[in-house]
Amino acid sequence: MNKKNLRTSKFATNSVRAGTFRSSQGEHSESLYLTSSFIFQNAEEAAERFANQEAGNVYSRFTNPSVKMFEDRLAILEEAEECVATSTGMSAILSCIMSLCRAGDHVVVSRSVFGTTVKLFDNILSEWGLEVSYVTLSDEEQWKNSLKKNTKLFFVETPSNPLMEVCDIKFLADLAHKNKSLLIVDNCFCTPAHQIPVRFGADIIIHSATKYLDGQGRCLGGAVLGKRSLMKKVRGFLRSAGTSMSPFNAWVFLKGLETLKIRMDAHASNAYKLAVWLEQNKKIEKVYYPGLDSHPQYELVKKQQNTGGGVVSFKVKGGKEAAWKLINSTRLLSITANLGDTRSTITHPSTTTHSRLNQDQRDLAGITENLIRIAVGLEDIDDIKADIN
Ligand SMILES: Cc1ncc(COP(=O)(O)O)c(C=O)c1O
Repeated sequence: MNKKNLRTSKFATNSVRAGTFRSSQGEHSESLYLTSSFIFQNAEEAAERFANQEAGNVYSRFTNPSVKMFEDRLAILEEAEECVATSTGMSAILSCIMSLCRAGDHVVVSRSVFGTTVKLFDNILSEWGLEVSYVTLSDEEQWKNSLKKNTKLFFVETPSNPLMEVCDIKFLADLAHKNKSLLIVDNCFCTPAHQIPVRFGADIIIHSATKYLDGQGRCLGGAVLGKRSLMKKVRGFLRSAGTSMSPFNAWVFLKGLETLKIRMDAHASNAYKLAVWLEQNKKIEKVYYPGLDSHPQYELVKKQQNTGGGVVSFKVKGGKEAAWKLINSTRLLSITANLGDTRSTITHPSTTTHSRLNQDQRDLAGITENLIRIAVGLEDIDDIKADIN
C-alpha cells in the first residue's frame, strides 16, 4: 500500500502525513534515501529516464525520494502547485531569479530584506545584467512608481527581517499582475502555519528551511514554490547548476514540518508576551512586533497573518554600547545570527546579519546600532524575561 500524497483540508494532518511515500518495506516513518544515484534495469531504461520519457529516479542532484517527500509536503502546506527544494535559502533565491530573469530585466526589491539577499542582488545578479531598484516595503506609491515595461518581478519579505514591517500582499500581487510581472514572497518569518501568501495572489514563495521549517537549528536548506510552469524552469536550473537539497537535510525538514504548527503557535505566544513586556520597559525606545496594536500595519497583519510570528526586534536607549551590553549580559539566550530555533537567539543586526550593507542602505532600512533582534524560542517565557532583565 502506498499512501503517497495523502492530503486533507487540515493543516495539522497534512504537516504530518502529506507527501509520504512508503516503500515496499512498509516503514511507518519516512525513509532516508541516502544514495547519490539510482540503478536502471537496463540501458534502455537508463536512456528513457535521462530523456524524461519514463518517470523515475535518476541522480540525487535532481531526483531523490526523501527530497521529493519534503517538496510534496511543503507544496501542500503552502497551497502551491509545486515545490523545488534547494541547498539553502540563498540558493532558493538565486535559483528562482536565475531561472526566471534574463539580462536586461528589471526587478524591484524591498529595502527591508535579509542583508545577504541585498548582496546577492547588488553584487552578483546586477553583474549579470539585472536592473535592480529598491523601494520601501510598506510605501505603495513607491511600488507603483517603480514599475517599468521590463519589470519582471517584485521581491519582498513580509514580515521583514529584522524590523518586522509588513506589506499588503494582495495589493502588490494585483499591481505586479497588471504589469505582467510576478510577486515573490519570502515567507520565512511566518511559514505556512501562520501565513499563506498564495491566497493573496503571490506567484512564488521562497523559504529558508534553515529557520522554522527545521525548527531546531540543525540543517541548511531552502525552497521555491509556485505554479508548475514556473517551477519547471527552476528545476531545470537546479538540475544544471546543482543548487540541490541533500536527502539527509530533506529528511530532517520532513520531521520538522510535522511539528511546524504547534511550534509556530508556541513561538508566537512567547513572542507576543515578550513584546508586550518589552514595550513597558522605560529603557527601551521602541518595540517592533506585528502582533502589537502599536504596529503601524496591525489591521493588515490581522487580515494576512494568523499571529505576529516568533521574532521581536527592539531599539534600546543608549546606542550600540547599551545594545551590546544587553546582548553580552544574557546567559540563557544564544548570541547567534540564526532564527527559528527552539532556543531563543539574540542578534545585533547592524554588525552581523546586515553588516555587509553600506551605511546608507542600513539607514534607509532603519537598521540602527541600538537595534536588537530576538527570535523567541520555546523556553519558559519567565526565564526569557528574567535573562533580558
Ligand atoms: C528572510 C530570510 N531569507 C533568506 C535567508 C537565507 O537563508 P539561508 O541562510 O538558509 O541561506 C535568511 C537567512 O537568515 C532569511 O532570514
